[in-house]
Amino acid sequence: IQDGQVRTPPMGWLSWERFRCTTDCSAYPDDCISDKLLRQMADHLAADGFVKAGYNHVIVDDCWLAKTRDVKGRLQPDAARFPQGMKPLADYIHSKGLKFGLYEDVGAKTCAGYPGSEHYFQLDAQTFADWTVDYLKFDGCNYHPSQYQFGYPNMNFFLNMTGRQIVLSCEYALYEKSFQKPNYTAQAQVCHLSRNFDDIDDSWDSLLSIIKFYGENNGDFAAVAGPGYFNDPDMLIIGNFGLSPDQERVQMAVWCILAAPLMISNDLRKIRKSSKDLLLNKMAIAVNQDELGVQGRRVNMIGNVEIWSKPILPAGSYAFAFVNRNTGVPTKITLSLTQYTEQFWLKENTNQKVKELLSNAPAVVAYNVTEIFENIYEGVFKPRQSFTKFVNPTGAY
Ligand code: GLA
Repeated sequence: IQDGQVRTPPMGWLSWERFRCTTDCSAYPDDCISDKLLRQMADHLAADGFVKAGYNHVIVDDCWLAKTRDVKGRLQPDAARFPQGMKPLADYIHSKGLKFGLYEDVGAKTCAGYPGSEHYFQLDAQTFADWTVDYLKFDGCNYHPSQYQFGYPNMNFFLNMTGRQIVLSCEYALYEKSFQKPNYTAQAQVCHLSRNFDDIDDSWDSLLSIIKFYGENNGDFAAVAGPGYFNDPDMLIIGNFGLSPDQERVQMAVWCILAAPLMISNDLRKIRKSSKDLLLNKMAIAVNQDELGVQGRRVNMIGNVEIWSKPILPAGSYAFAFVNRNTGVPTKITLSLTQYTEQFWLKENTNQKVKELLSNAPAVVAYNVTEIFENIYEGVFKPRQSFTKFVNPTGAY
């Protein structure tokens, strides 16, 4: 949506992947979806350097709602888990320098069976604005296949009517994909963000399947991304249980190259130092937040090593990721940088904005190469000079 919001991918914390639909606070007092959990995450984001690094949203996913609407038809949170209601929670989150987001669904019920927004778009949009919500994750469960093309634009309209700036994160493409080819251009006009593939799970297999989908880029949804609209490959699982430190680097590298929203879903009270450092890596975040807002692409495969590239500012600069799908020992790759920089972005890709920018930029004489994870200066490389690296198994350089 071109309304001035989401000029770079949003960053923050989102409850779903790590905490799911945990509602039994007597059995899981520390992990249930509650006012307490969200305040604790806000505290950690603020105290542990995440807000300073740009992670400035706290978003509650499914299962925050009561099972019924109130007597006036308004949504209400579960009274036991959110005893003060949503506005005081939003105030607390705002007081920590954070924005507040929540989840609803375009259909009759949310994916977990709580009241959905169907037939209540206007009232719900106003309720969110009254609570000073800044971000709405709007899911697509329990809706009519032919209606997504109306439901999402309608919610966008009613959010606008409130006069409050609210980011609209859709799952339009993910649901549309099951019955017709998604119209990515239409989505970019009514959503700021769009989940267009399966839910992430805390595993390497799940991560790889998402990276594969984005690498294949069927329907060229990458071309639509840019300031105002970004594709969303789902939450960061870094800091959980399923990935090795090298695999965590793969997710960070690819998500930054993709200009993906960086929404952490872990338990900030208990993460490893290496995971925290990775999430706070300044150069990686700068690649993600680059103002050109280009969604990077998988530009080649050398054996089982994926080459990803993304033009960043100033024009003529690029971010790279080499992602090794092999297991076993580190894999050696040799390439010339020019093949995956100007040559690729001027010719093969479909992003007109990038083509224009690069064709007007002075020719590259040499590249200054810095490795981002360890912050190692690799030296100066001529465009055609060969560049050799060993990439760790199921890891990234
Ligand atoms: C869907 C979404 C997930 C999460 C759950 C909640 O599966 O894709 O991201 O929001 O619903 O029920």
